[in-house]
Amino acid sequence: MLLPTCLLCVCLRGSVYCDDNKLTKIPSLPRDTSYFYARYNTITSVEKKDFEGLDKLRRVNLSNNRIKSVDPGTFDGLPVLEELLISNNDLTELPGLPISLVTLAANWNSIIDSGLPSDGLAKLENLKDLYLGNNQLEHVPHGLPENLQLLHLQHNKIDSIANDTFCKPGDKTYVRKSLQDVRLDNNPVLLGSVPDAYICLRRLPTGQF
Ligand SMILES: *[C@@H]1O[C@H](CO)[C@@H](O)[C@H](O)[C@H]1NC(C)=O
Ligand SMILES: *[C@@H]1O[C@H](CO)[C@@H](O)[C@H](O)[C@H]1NC(C)=O
Repeated sequence: MLLPTCLLCVCLRGSVYCDDNKLTKIPSLPRDTSYFYARYNTITSVEKKDFEGLDKLRRVNLSNNRIKSVDPGTFDGLPVLEELLISNNDLTELPGLPISLVTLAANWNSIIDSGLPSDGLAKLENLKDLYLGNNQLEHVPHGLPENLQLLHLQHNKIDSIANDTFCKPGDKTYVRKSLQDVRLDNNPVLLGSVPDAYICLRRLPTGQF
C-alpha cells in the first residue's frame, strides 16, 4: 500500500510531504519515514495503526487539521520521536507522549486542565519547548520538566499561580536554570499576587503583574 501514498504525497529520502492534500486520514507510511508532514488537511482523528512500527520517525507535523482524537499509545511508543507539531486542531487533551520528545507544539487547540497527563509532565526529561498558547487551560501544567527552556501559555484562562508552580518553596537555593522564556500574557492571572513564585527563575514571565 506504499505506492499510493508516494503517488499522492512526495516521498524523498525518509521525508513524506502530504501538505494541503485534502486528506481526511493519515495515509499508510513507508517504514523508513523520519519526517512526516501533513499540514493543511482535514484529518479528524489519528489511529494507533497509523504510526505503528515507524521506529525512525523523528518529526510529525500535523498542524492545521481538525484532529479531535488520538488513540492511546499512538505516539508514546515511538522510540525516537523528537518533534510533535499538532497546532491548530480540535484537541481537548494531549496525546500520550514519548520521553524522547524535545518539542511539543499544541497551541491553538481547546485543551483543558484535565486533558494534561494526570501525573504531570516531569517524566518528559528531554522536553525543551512546550507551546500551549491559545487553549482553555486554567492552571500552569504541573511537574514542569527540569530541562524545559520555553513555556508558552499566552491566551489561556489561567487565573492563579502558586508558590510552587515554578520554584520549590522549601528550598531557597533551588534555581530553575533552563527555563528562560515563559509567556503568561493574556490570562486573567495577576502575576504579582504571589511574588515568591519566581525567585528561582532567571527571567520573569511575560504577563500582567
Ligand atoms: C509545522 O507546520 C506549521 C504550519 O505550517 C509551521 O508553522 C511550523 O513551523 C512547522 N514546524 C516544523 C518544525 O516543521
Ligand atoms: C506556599 O503556599 C502555601 C499555600 O498557600 C503556604 O501554605 C506555604 O506557607 C507557602 N510557602 C512559602 C515558603 O511561602
